[in-house]
Amino acid sequence: MGKLEGVCREVLDKAEWVAIVTSSGDSPHLVGTWAEYIRSFGIKDDGTLIIPAGYYHTTEENLKKDKNIQLLMASKVVQGTYGPGQGCIVYGQGEVQTKGEFAQLAKEKFSWARGALVVKIKECKTQL
Ligand SMILES: Cc1cc2nc3c(=O)[nH]c(=O)nc-3n(C[C@H](O)[C@H](O)[C@H](O)COP(=O)(O)O)c2cc1C
Repeated sequence: MGKLEGVCREVLDKAEWVAIVTSSGDSPHLVGTWAEYIRSFGIKDDGTLIIPAGYYHTTEENLKKDKNIQLLMASKVVQGTYGPGQGCIVYGQGEVQTKGEFAQLAKEKFSWARGALVVKIKECKTQL
């Protein structure tokens, strides 16, 4: 399982928001979260990210059929290869959990959360 290290870790530390893509099989589905929500749970050593799920109903259904998920995050204040600004795609596997440790953590921190979107990172790639 991958980890969020180096420049990708720095990008998540400085990003404002994160785009999240799943697939229904015939079309991509795009949702978002605030990067500070992910940061608020800390990045687990084994490469697990926790995102509070208030809605994410279509995302949840997609992940039941296909666990693959991609996150895009970026920050202009992180140095890229060619100048200011770097972005990272996180490739992983995801699941919306409404019970268990991570769901409980999300509900405690965010009163509106029905659970947690839990992402196990497989790989991270820089974009710029
Ligand atoms: C910047 C931003 C942050 C968001 N943060 C969350 C979030 O943390 N949790 C959540 O459930 N929805 C969040 N949303 C709403 C989702 O993008 C999405 O519209 C909603 O969860 C419905 O998901 P679904 O289409 O998979 O059912 C956010 C949207 C934006 C634009």
